[in-house]
Amino acid sequence: MEVADSILDLIGNTPLVRMRRVLAGVPCDVLAKLEMLNPGGSVKDRPAVAMIDAAERDGLLAPGGTIIEPTSGNTGVGLAMVAARRDYRCIFVMTDKVSEEKVQLLRAYGAEVVICPVAVAPDDPDSYYSTAERLVAETPGAYRPNQYFNQVNPLAHERSTGPELWRQTGGRITHFVAGAGTGGTLAGVGRYLKAQNPAVQVIGADPEGSIFSGGSGRPYLVEGIGEDFWPETYDRSVVDRVIPVSDRDSFEMARAVSRREGLLIGGSGGTVVCAAREVARECGSGDVVVLLLPDAGRGYLSKVFNDAWMASHGFLIGERPCVGDVLDARAGAVPPLVYVHPGDPVRLAVTRMRDYGVSQLPVAKGDLPLTAAEVVGSVDELQLMALAFDGDLLGRPVGEVMNRPLERIGIGEPVTLAVAKLERSPALLVLDGGCPRAVVSRTDVLGFLSAGYPGEPVPPGEDGSTQPGNDAAPSGPSGPSERSERPVASRPAPGVRRDGSDRR
Ligand SMILES: Cc1ncc(COP(=O)(O)O)c(C=O)c1O
Repeated sequence: MEVADSILDLIGNTPLVRMRRVLAGVPCDVLAKLEMLNPGGSVKDRPAVAMIDAAERDGLLAPGGTIIEPTSGNTGVGLAMVAARRDYRCIFVMTDKVSEEKVQLLRAYGAEVVICPVAVAPDDPDSYYSTAERLVAETPGAYRPNQYFNQVNPLAHERSTGPELWRQTGGRITHFVAGAGTGGTLAGVGRYLKAQNPAVQVIGADPEGSIFSGGSGRPYLVEGIGEDFWPETYDRSVVDRVIPVSDRDSFEMARAVSRREGLLIGGSGGTVVCAAREVARECGSGDVVVLLLPDAGRGYLSKVFNDAWMASHGFLIGERPCVGDVLDARAGAVPPLVYVHPGDPVRLAVTRMRDYGVSQLPVAKGDLPLTAAEVVGSVDELQLMALAFDGDLLGRPVGEVMNRPLERIGIGEPVTLAVAKLERSPALLVLDGGCPRAVVSRTDVLGFLSAGYPGEPVPPGEDGSTQPGNDAAPSGPSGPSERSERPVASRPAPGVRRDGSDRR
């Protein structure tokens, strides 16, 4: 009989498949390693079982023991699967930012999940890190795999993923492309392949902003890869090159691979395919580029594969006219986003509002171009006026007096949605490719709707001409009576709920 003893024996030996369609036209072979076919659904099953095997061998984890790790990602699933099969108690510490789906997934394996507030400092006793440390100290028989420090993590790849790739390509692999979270995959596979053939190129695919590709560690939206610190498990000596890829390119590629190759991959898989395309274009006909697809798109159905989520972050253009049309129609060139830092004095916010003729400003950490997660609040002139009775207001930092951040809208979302949102917010922060691009106010939208937008037929009499039948002013669906029906701020547009929530 061909049968495995346990699900854990089925980890690894994942297949390679040619990327024929999405990467058509490149001069070399491009092969994808399908790590989503591991039993826990990701590449992380490999280090998870290896770290537990090593802990058992070294006497760090004994029967009846408890595995504790602060993780919400794929490593958690791998560890939960091992814990279930070997009767360990398993506790994951996560922040309250994590989606309910991820919590449910780990609980489905019988794991316990402890949720900590995200909005506290790392040294706060309730923080994610402090809680994990306290639980390890308090729980008898506790073992923390510590994937960012544990050298068994890269070793798992050196002993399994690397040799598989060498064997599966008959030693012909010339380039290996993968993302890095802990860096375990790149380090382990890189060491093995370079030991076989030092000419093999090891290439990291990295979200723009992450430090591996030279960023400052600024936030981005792709999940599972990139960091704002150098993990112990990341081995710079085997990485020949790291290619930064934007969130937009990663998500578009993940969707394209899913639709054109029939291979449902996650956002970070999209990052890897984009980087591999860049590498492959520079290759010769004898080269064999292998890229590693770490997990499947099922874990991202509510984000990357959800058109409403993609549009709300400015990754998709929907129904026209859209918010981008309002920005394009704004008089003069759209200035770069005007904002203040939380540490700036209120005086600066007031000057900036006056200089730019705006009534509200976003408050954000970081420099332009900002990322959405850097926006921490907003100030508006009404609020500052009310506070102005407090004598030394002007010298106080903006962060002490700011409001909640402005409501957000995607650049490709319909103007009708902007109208609905502007009922409860004086202005909206416009996201383009996941990043704040501009602020759009009630005045901007009113101006746009009342002026008629480019492409809209100008109704008779409204272009300054009183000639009926003027060629430039056809009547029709956008004639005068229709125009007066156009939704304005006092009334939600058809199909937009009064609470402004997305219609799709
Ligand atoms: C979702 C996800 N998790 C984990 C990893 C693997 O990262 P590492 O081995 O560097 O921890 C990747 C790499 O592409 C990933 O995309």
